[in-house]
Amino acid sequence: MSNYYSKISGWGMYVPERVLTNHDLAQMVDTSDEWIVTRTGIRERRIAAEGQATVDMSLRATQQALERAGLQADDLDLIILATSTPDYLCPPASSVLQDRLGASRAGAMTLVAGCTGFLYGLITAAQFVQTGAYRHVLVVGGETLSYAMDWTDRNTCVLFGDGAGAVIVSRSDQPGGLQTMMLGSDGSGWDALLLPGIGSITPLTPEVLENKGHKLKMNGRAVFKFATRVMVEAVTQVVTEAGLTMNDIDLLIPHQANERIIDLAIRRLGFDREKVMVNLDRYGNTSAASVPLALCEALDQGRLRPGDRVVMVAFGAGLTYAACLWEWQPEEVSEEPILVTNWPVPESLRETAQQVRTAAWRMQVQARAKASDAAMAIMLPLYTFRKGVKKRLGK
Ligand code: UT7
Repeated sequence: MSNYYSKISGWGMYVPERVLTNHDLAQMVDTSDEWIVTRTGIRERRIAAEGQATVDMSLRATQQALERAGLQADDLDLIILATSTPDYLCPPASSVLQDRLGASRAGAMTLVAGCTGFLYGLITAAQFVQTGAYRHVLVVGGETLSYAMDWTDRNTCVLFGDGAGAVIVSRSDQPGGLQTMMLGSDGSGWDALLLPGIGSITPLTPEVLENKGHKLKMNGRAVFKFATRVMVEAVTQVVTEAGLTMNDIDLLIPHQANERIIDLAIRRLGFDREKVMVNLDRYGNTSAASVPLALCEALDQGRLRPGDRVVMVAFGAGLTYAACLWEWQPEEVSEEPILVTNWPVPESLRETAQQVRTAAWRMQVQARAKASDAAMAIMLPLYTFRKGVKKRLGK
């Protein structure tokens, strides 16, 4: 059992000022607003200004998150920056961010897991704080995808946008935070989303540049099929493992890639559309920034309240996928026992009250784990059986 709980103590987001609409794109490639809206749900996206890069945007989002948490950069123990579009291939973008922040005490790492990167980072951060190793971990998803776009390829350039979202994951004594999680990867799909000409396998030559090897290539249909399948599997897994049903979830924050993917997945899950956060119409697919941008906007819109259960799910290059069930932290409960008297309280009584409270929470967590085991014992054979039948039928 964990020694502590995790909580998101601060959050922040930044998107560049420049808006690129579908109508603007229709002037650049053979596409239309109608095609983009009906096939993806996207209406506009943000594009970084000249010279503005991933760390610039990540810094802005982080400053907001720190301010909200009431923390200084020096309070950070670890920085995890998830991005597929770092400022440089080397050094890690996380170290550049650390320097710009002045977070001199922190370790720093850059995490590359495509659009799933932020969730990989969030789940990793929660492990560090729940074990008690660290107090405050910064997790950022930041992308400058406009730089990786082939602006003559209508298959990709209409989908993506730039931005950054950040959260501070902090250690807490109050139950809440990360409840269940899963990290997935299907490496057999590594070439479905690819920047073929940047990396140790291809020396950068004038031919590579001429063939646009430094621009993103995507097999959209393959990713679409993969995404709808793994979203259903991953969400089912984290909800079932928590001993809950879809009705117990207050908000679903999916990776913002395509509204059709989201709609198909929630229909298969039997999830209420009203409880799904969607903001891809304004930002497009911002890869690792998409989940934190949606989380920040959900919070700003008051869609997430203390004690709510939120499921976050993402998929992307790799092909990677991940999901987690996060219990939004309840309002801080005072460490002081509530008493109906003004008399001084002996220290021993204070300690006893605290011990009773902790024991009650532990019992609650254990009961939930037992319920989860029971649910998994029923669900998993059913799930495996269904998968086997489908395979035999060639579906
Ligand atoms: O974060 C993970 C990153 N990637 C994704 O999530 C992408 C997942 N895939 C998708 O979202 C969808 O597959 C796309 C939006 C990329 C494409 O939608 P689709 O319904 O799967 O279209 P399609 O690839 O089957 O293409 C249908 C037609 C094709 O024309 P033909 O061959 O039927 O004549 C395309 O050339 O639509 C054409 N097309 C376009 N037409 C107008 C493709 N892009 C465009 C465009 N405007 N921008």
